[in-house]
Amino acid sequence: MTVGKANRDRWRRYWDKHSASYDKEMRFFDRVLFGDSRAWICSQATGDTLEVAIGTGLNLPLYPPGIRLTGIDYSPAMLAIAKQRAQELGRDVDLREADAHALPFPDASFDTIVCTFSLCAIPDDARAVSEMNRVLRPGGLLLLADHIAAAAWPARAIQRLLEVVTVPLQGEHFLRRPLHHVQAQGLTVERRQRFKLGLTERLAARKPAPSQQDHEETSATSDGLHDQPTSS
Ligand SMILES: C[S@@+](CC[C@H](N)C(=O)[O-])C[C@H]1O[C@@H](n2cnc3c(N)ncnc32)[C@H](O)[C@@H]1O
Repeated sequence: MTVGKANRDRWRRYWDKHSASYDKEMRFFDRVLFGDSRAWICSQATGDTLEVAIGTGLNLPLYPPGIRLTGIDYSPAMLAIAKQRAQELGRDVDLREADAHALPFPDASFDTIVCTFSLCAIPDDARAVSEMNRVLRPGGLLLLADHIAAAAWPARAIQRLLEVVTVPLQGEHFLRRPLHHVQAQGLTVERRQRFKLGLTERLAARKPAPSQQDHEETSATSDGLHDQPTSS
Protein backbone atom coordinates (compact mmCIF):
# COMPACT_ATOMS: atom_id res chain seq x y z
CA MET A 1 0.00 0.00 0.00
CA THR A 2 1.32 3.45 -0.86
CA VAL A 3 0.60 6.24 1.58
CA GLY A 4 0.34 9.57 -0.24
CA LYS A 5 1.01 12.93 1.39
CA ALA A 6 -2.64 14.04 1.06
CA ASN A 7 -3.77 10.88 2.85
CA ARG A 8 -1.15 11.33 5.58
CA ASP A 9 -2.10 14.97 6.12
CA ARG A 10 -5.77 14.03 6.33
CA TRP A 11 -5.23 11.49 9.13
CA ARG A 12 -2.80 13.75 10.92
CA ARG A 13 -5.52 16.46 11.01
CA TYR A 14 -7.97 13.83 12.25
CA TRP A 15 -5.74 13.02 15.23
CA ASP A 16 -4.96 16.68 15.91
CA LYS A 17 -8.70 17.36 16.09
CA HIS A 18 -9.41 14.41 18.39
CA SER A 19 -6.45 14.89 20.72
CA ALA A 20 -8.41 16.74 23.41
CA SER A 21 -10.99 13.98 23.85
CA TYR A 22 -8.61 11.04 23.26
CA ASP A 23 -7.62 10.20 26.84
CA LYS A 24 -11.19 10.00 28.08
CA GLU A 25 -12.27 7.72 25.18
CA MET A 26 -9.19 5.53 25.47
CA ARG A 27 -9.55 5.06 29.24
CA PHE A 28 -12.96 3.53 28.53
CA PHE A 29 -11.51 1.01 26.04
CA ASP A 30 -8.58 0.29 28.39
CA ARG A 31 -11.14 -0.67 31.06
CA VAL A 32 -13.51 -2.80 28.94
CA LEU A 33 -11.21 -4.33 26.30
CA PHE A 34 -7.49 -4.01 26.93
CA GLY A 35 -7.13 -4.79 30.65
CA ASP A 36 -3.59 -4.45 31.96
CA SER A 37 -2.04 -4.53 28.45
CA ARG A 38 -0.23 -1.20 28.82
CA ALA A 39 1.51 -2.38 32.00
CA TRP A 40 2.20 -5.81 30.43
CA ILE A 41 3.92 -4.15 27.45
CA CYS A 42 5.83 -1.38 29.22
CA SER A 43 7.19 -3.60 32.00
CA GLN A 44 9.17 -5.58 29.37
CA ALA A 45 10.97 -2.54 27.89
CA THR A 46 14.73 -2.35 28.44
CA GLY A 47 17.56 -0.13 27.22
CA ASP A 48 17.04 2.24 24.28
CA THR A 49 13.28 2.13 23.74
CA LEU A 50 11.22 3.62 20.90
CA GLU A 51 7.46 4.00 21.19
CA VAL A 52 5.93 4.29 17.71
CA ALA A 53 2.75 6.43 17.44
CA ILE A 54 2.98 7.35 21.11
CA GLY A 55 -0.15 9.53 20.95
CA THR A 56 -0.81 11.44 24.19
CA GLY A 57 1.70 9.29 26.08
CA LEU A 58 -0.72 7.16 28.09
CA ASN A 59 2.07 4.59 28.54
CA LEU A 60 4.53 7.08 30.01
CA PRO A 61 3.79 6.40 33.70
CA LEU A 62 4.22 2.64 33.16
CA TYR A 63 7.80 2.38 31.85
CA PRO A 64 10.56 1.22 34.18
CA PRO A 65 12.78 4.12 35.33
CA GLY A 66 16.08 2.93 33.81
CA ILE A 67 15.19 3.00 30.08
CA ARG A 68 16.11 5.71 27.55
CA LEU A 69 12.83 6.56 25.87
CA THR A 70 12.11 8.07 22.44
CA GLY A 71 8.55 8.54 21.17
CA ILE A 72 7.28 9.46 17.71
CA ASP A 73 3.87 10.43 16.39
CA TYR A 74 2.77 12.42 13.37
CA SER A 75 0.13 14.45 15.19
CA PRO A 76 1.61 17.60 16.78
CA ALA A 77 -1.47 17.99 19.01
CA MET A 78 -1.20 14.43 20.38
CA LEU A 79 2.54 14.99 20.96
CA ALA A 80 1.88 18.26 22.80
CA ILE A 81 -0.24 16.35 25.35
CA ALA A 82 2.47 13.67 25.63
CA LYS A 83 5.07 16.39 26.31
CA GLN A 84 2.90 17.90 29.02
CA ARG A 85 2.40 14.45 30.59
CA ALA A 86 6.14 13.73 30.50
CA GLN A 87 6.84 17.03 32.25
CA GLU A 88 4.26 16.34 34.95
CA LEU A 89 5.77 12.89 35.52
CA GLY A 90 9.33 14.20 35.48
CA ARG A 91 10.04 11.60 32.78
CA ASP A 92 12.87 12.33 30.37
CA VAL A 93 11.67 11.42 26.86
CA ASP A 94 12.77 12.48 23.39
CA LEU A 95 9.47 13.22 21.59
CA ARG A 96 9.57 13.80 17.83
CA GLU A 97 7.13 14.38 15.01
CA ALA A 98 7.65 11.53 12.53
CA ASP A 99 5.84 9.07 10.30
CA ALA A 100 5.69 5.40 11.31
CA HIS A 101 6.02 4.44 7.63
CA ALA A 102 9.52 5.95 7.43
CA LEU A 103 11.12 6.08 10.86
CA PRO A 104 13.90 8.71 11.00
CA PHE A 105 16.45 6.41 12.68
CA PRO A 106 19.32 4.30 11.36
CA ASP A 107 19.02 0.51 11.25
CA ALA A 108 19.41 -1.31 14.58
CA SER A 109 19.03 1.79 16.81
CA PHE A 110 16.85 0.42 19.64
CA ASP A 111 16.76 -2.48 22.12
CA THR A 112 12.96 -2.32 22.44
CA ILE A 113 10.19 -1.09 20.17
CA VAL A 114 6.70 -0.52 21.60
CA CYS A 115 3.50 0.12 19.66
CA THR A 116 0.14 0.07 21.45
CA PHE A 117 -3.31 0.48 19.86
CA SER A 118 -1.90 2.24 16.80
CA LEU A 119 -1.44 -0.46 14.16
CA CYS A 120 -5.25 -0.32 13.80
CA ALA A 121 -4.87 3.32 12.70
CA ILE A 122 -1.55 3.51 10.83
CA PRO A 123 -2.55 3.34 7.15
CA ASP A 124 0.03 0.71 6.07
CA ASP A 125 0.47 -1.56 9.09
CA ALA A 126 2.77 -4.02 7.27
CA ARG A 127 5.18 -1.23 6.34
CA ALA A 128 5.11 0.14 9.89
CA VAL A 129 6.05 -3.29 11.32
CA SER A 130 8.82 -3.61 8.73
CA GLU A 131 10.18 -0.19 9.80
CA MET A 132 10.01 -1.23 13.48
CA ASN A 133 11.99 -4.37 12.61
CA ARG A 134 14.57 -2.31 10.70
CA VAL A 135 15.34 0.01 13.62
CA LEU A 136 15.31 -2.85 16.18
CA ARG A 137 18.71 -4.26 17.16
CA PRO A 138 19.34 -7.98 16.62
CA GLY A 139 18.33 -9.66 19.89
CA GLY A 140 15.92 -6.78 20.64
CA LEU A 141 12.25 -7.04 21.58
CA LEU A 142 9.18 -5.83 19.68
CA LEU A 143 6.17 -5.28 21.97
CA LEU A 144 2.72 -4.86 20.41
CA ALA A 145 -0.83 -4.59 21.75
CA ASP A 146 -3.93 -3.89 19.71
CA HIS A 147 -7.50 -4.80 18.98
CA ILE A 148 -7.61 -7.31 16.14
CA ALA A 149 -10.00 -9.45 14.07
CA ALA A 150 -12.16 -11.43 16.53
CA ALA A 151 -11.79 -15.18 16.89
CA ALA A 152 -15.42 -16.03 15.99
CA TRP A 153 -16.89 -15.32 12.54
CA PRO A 154 -20.12 -13.61 13.76
CA ALA A 155 -18.01 -11.05 15.63
CA ARG A 156 -15.78 -10.64 12.55
CA ALA A 157 -18.90 -10.05 10.43
CA ILE A 158 -19.86 -7.17 12.75
CA GLN A 159 -16.30 -5.81 12.57
CA ARG A 160 -16.47 -5.92 8.77
CA LEU A 161 -19.69 -3.86 8.87
CA LEU A 162 -18.11 -1.38 11.29
CA GLU A 163 -15.13 -0.94 8.97
CA VAL A 164 -17.45 0.24 6.17
CA VAL A 165 -17.88 3.38 8.27
CA THR A 166 -14.72 3.60 10.37
CA VAL A 167 -12.08 3.08 7.67
CA PRO A 168 -13.17 6.01 5.46
CA LEU A 169 -14.19 8.31 8.34
CA GLN A 170 -11.61 7.58 11.04
CA GLY A 171 -8.91 5.45 9.38
CA GLU A 172 -9.75 2.81 12.00
CA HIS A 173 -9.36 -0.89 11.06
CA PHE A 174 -10.88 -3.80 12.98
CA LEU A 175 -9.80 -6.85 10.98
CA ARG A 176 -6.03 -6.53 11.15
CA ARG A 177 -3.59 -9.20 12.44
CA PRO A 178 -0.26 -7.59 13.39
CA LEU A 179 0.99 -11.06 14.38
CA HIS A 180 1.17 -12.07 10.70
CA HIS A 181 3.37 -9.08 9.85
CA VAL A 182 5.64 -9.86 12.81
CA GLN A 183 6.00 -13.47 11.62
CA ALA A 184 6.61 -12.31 8.03
CA GLN A 185 9.53 -10.19 9.32
CA GLY A 186 11.12 -13.35 10.78
CA LEU A 187 10.80 -12.36 14.44
CA THR A 188 10.33 -15.06 17.07
CA VAL A 189 7.15 -14.64 19.11
CA GLU A 190 8.15 -15.37 22.71
CA ARG A 191 4.90 -14.45 24.48
CA ARG A 192 1.43 -13.89 23.08
CA GLN A 193 -1.91 -13.45 24.79
CA ARG A 194 -5.29 -13.08 23.09
CA PHE A 195 -8.47 -12.37 25.09
CA LYS A 196 -11.90 -10.66 25.17
CA LEU A 197 -13.38 -12.95 22.46
CA GLY A 198 -10.02 -12.82 20.73
CA LEU A 199 -10.50 -9.07 20.14
CA THR A 200 -7.36 -7.99 22.00
CA GLU A 201 -3.88 -9.37 21.37
CA ARG A 202 -0.56 -8.51 22.93
CA LEU A 203 2.78 -10.04 22.07
CA ALA A 204 6.50 -9.89 22.65
CA ALA A 205 8.65 -10.91 19.65
CA ARG A 206 12.43 -11.16 19.52
CA LYS A 207 14.56 -10.19 16.51
CA PRO A 208 16.99 -13.05 15.97
CA ALA A 209 20.53 -12.29 17.07
CA PRO A 210 23.27 -13.24 14.59
CA SER A 211 23.88 -16.98 14.98
CA GLN A 212 27.09 -18.28 16.57
CA GLN A 213 28.21 -19.46 13.13
CA ASP A 214 27.71 -15.98 11.62
CA HIS A 215 29.60 -14.56 14.58
CA GLU A 216 32.53 -16.92 14.06
CA GLU A 217 32.64 -16.11 10.34
CA THR A 218 32.60 -12.37 11.12
CA SER A 219 35.40 -12.66 13.68
CA ALA A 220 37.49 -14.77 11.30
CA THR A 221 37.06 -12.07 8.66
CA SER A 222 37.94 -9.24 11.04
CA ASP A 223 40.96 -11.22 12.31
CA GLY A 224 42.28 -11.27 8.75
CA LEU A 225 41.65 -15.02 8.48
CA HIS A 226 39.53 -14.71 5.36
CA ASP A 227 40.74 -16.03 2.03
CA GLN A 228 43.60 -13.99 0.64
CA PRO A 229 43.83 -13.35 -3.09
CA THR A 230 46.26 -15.87 -4.60
CA SER A 231 49.19 -14.52 -6.58
CA SER A 232 49.82 -16.34 -9.81
C1 LIG B 1 -5.33 5.18 18.72
S1 LIG B 1 -4.00 6.31 18.91
C2 LIG B 1 -2.89 5.37 19.96
C3 LIG B 1 -1.97 6.24 20.76
C4 LIG B 1 -1.07 5.53 21.76
N1 LIG B 1 -0.19 4.59 21.11
C5 LIG B 1 -1.84 4.83 22.85
O1 LIG B 1 -1.55 3.67 23.14
O2 LIG B 1 -2.71 5.47 23.45
C6 LIG B 1 -3.23 6.21 17.33
C7 LIG B 1 -2.04 7.14 17.18
O3 LIG B 1 -1.36 6.78 15.99
C8 LIG B 1 -0.84 7.97 15.40
N2 LIG B 1 -0.54 7.65 14.00
C9 LIG B 1 -1.36 7.14 13.07
N3 LIG B 1 -0.70 6.96 11.92
C10 LIG B 1 0.57 7.35 12.12
C11 LIG B 1 1.73 7.42 11.31
N4 LIG B 1 1.72 7.02 10.03
N5 LIG B 1 2.87 7.87 11.85
C12 LIG B 1 2.92 8.29 13.13
N6 LIG B 1 1.85 8.26 13.96
C13 LIG B 1 0.69 7.80 13.46
C14 LIG B 1 -1.95 8.98 15.61
O4 LIG B 1 -1.49 10.31 15.47
C15 LIG B 1 -2.39 8.63 17.03
O5 LIG B 1 -1.67 9.38 17.98
